[in-house]
Amino acid sequence: MPTLIVVDRKGNEKAVTGETGLSVMEVIRDNGFDELLALCGGSCSCATCHVHVDAAWADKVGAPHEDEADLLDSSDHRSATSRLSCQIPFTDSLDGLKVTIAPED
Ligand code: FES
Repeated sequence: MPTLIVVDRKGNEKAVTGETGLSVMEVIRDNGFDELLALCGGSCSCATCHVHVDAAWADKVGAPHEDEADLLDSSDHRSATSRLSCQIPFTDSLDGLKVTIAPED
């Protein structure tokens, strides 16, 4: 299983693994990071799964799609590498991906 590196809001870094086919949000949530609320369950309508993708991974992960970008615009903490983690499919090609959970809005 590919590895995902998660940095929480306190700056603690933890490497976890997740099944491919899940979203990055599901991998984070299933590994006990309760600060990632993911209130809408992954349907791209809440923005509480906001993460900042590590700059080294930004190109590989890609840009948000239009609906996602609109939601991210509502955040005070949007950065150049912001994504909604429910909209990132976790795949073998993302093995080693590093994301930081965005501050709460
Ligand atoms: S879980 Fe709601 S937008 Fe991602």
